[in-house]
Amino acid sequence: MKQKRGNFGSMLGVVLATAGSAVGLGNVWRFPYMTGQNGGAAFILIYIACILVLGIPGMISEFVVGRHSQTNAYRAYDRISGGKAWRFIGLLGVLTSMIILGFYAVVAGWCLQYLYAAVVGQVGGGTTAVSQYFQAFSSDPWRPSLWAVAFILLTHIIIIRGVRKGIERASKLLMPILFFLLLVIVVSSCMLPGAVKGIEFLFKPDFSKVTHSVLLEALGQAFFSLSLGTACLCTYASYFNKKINLFRSAAHIAILDSIIAILAGLMIFPAAFSVGIQPDSGPSLIFITLPNVFQQAFAFMPILGYVISILFYALLVFAALTSTISMHEIGTVFFHEELHISRHQAAWILTGCCSVLAVFCSLSVGANTDIQVLGLSLLDFCDKLTAQVMLPIGAFLTSIMIGWFVAPQLLHDEFTNGGTVNGWLYPYWLFAVKWMVPLCIVLIFLHQLGIV
Ligand code: TRP
Repeated sequence: MKQKRGNFGSMLGVVLATAGSAVGLGNVWRFPYMTGQNGGAAFILIYIACILVLGIPGMISEFVVGRHSQTNAYRAYDRISGGKAWRFIGLLGVLTSMIILGFYAVVAGWCLQYLYAAVVGQVGGGTTAVSQYFQAFSSDPWRPSLWAVAFILLTHIIIIRGVRKGIERASKLLMPILFFLLLVIVVSSCMLPGAVKGIEFLFKPDFSKVTHSVLLEALGQAFFSLSLGTACLCTYASYFNKKINLFRSAAHIAILDSIIAILAGLMIFPAAFSVGIQPDSGPSLIFITLPNVFQQAFAFMPILGYVISILFYALLVFAALTSTISMHEIGTVFFHEELHISRHQAAWILTGCCSVLAVFCSLSVGANTDIQVLGLSLLDFCDKLTAQVMLPIGAFLTSIMIGWFVAPQLLHDEFTNGGTVNGWLYPYWLFAVKWMVPLCIVLIFLHQLGIV
């Protein structure tokens, strides 16, 4: 069993894979559009507070569950607490990650389409033409659905081939390139005429724009971006060895993830303000802003714009892929170990279910606007349901279990790697897990419901 579980080659690889899971469309697509819809700088401040106060302690908790138990999410929760009822957190995680994969693949498919469009030089013209391009293709019944399913199949192939060689090596090379390219685009975007307004929007908090739902939206975004609350981190941590410093890994990943999100904001907003795109355009924001950046910022040398746009979409696809792999892996290893079927069969269950959901999500945005739940398109509904309900509940229950139902000695051993690393932060972490995380999540829910 052990042999089969070891999917990653080196320990650096495992931590990188965890970072790869965190960095994805959540940073580059979701963070800017959420920030835009929630008034900018004030949202970012609340988001950062959520990362620090709730996100990092929550990540460590999931790491502890996974590394201690060395098994799939469902069994891991049971093994660490000795209580069967906690398994349902793992089960909830499997379900949540399947729903996320369903709608995430649609947006990842849009990125594939834009990669293709960048190669053939299809997205051109002014701001209106670029917006129309997005409208036209996202409401096509076939193409976006096919791209989404193609993306899930791509994930499937990597999952069954094993993550070891390709992905791990590619991550080490491509993640730094993505980072560098992001910097280049940030600088170009900030140099566009009128870009200052966008920078102000990002960094000058205007608390009068803070609506009452902003807390839950920021919390959801923080958890989504860290891949927290679905047992994803717990599944990856089941491949960690006993030498990995859990606190340090969580802090590094959270900081890297937030820096990338803020860079993505700095890439989008100055340009959006410069060309007159509304910051609150919603999920289409990056798709209608970026082509303008590539055209206008590199107007002095269009070939540079051409090359950079291709590279950028290719890297975005790659970043999305390292995230979809993590969502797929949670369910695959669960079905494989619990139903006693082969990894291949398990992977097909995931691929099948998520593809069906992806097609419906894709149709719900454009072609068939009747596919609605509670007045939202199915895609928006799945996004909100997972980020704002299921992830916080997953993280809440994990905290309660870790804080109150697991032996403190075990937690201390995991936190300090059996006493080999400095544990002065341990009491703070334990306090956060026992009190802060559960209380804040409850308060944020109550606030959303208008009770406090
Ligand atoms: N964190 C990823 C992103 O920012 C998305 C993601 C990957 C995720 N795995 C997850 C979100 C598990 C929630 C749960 O794009």
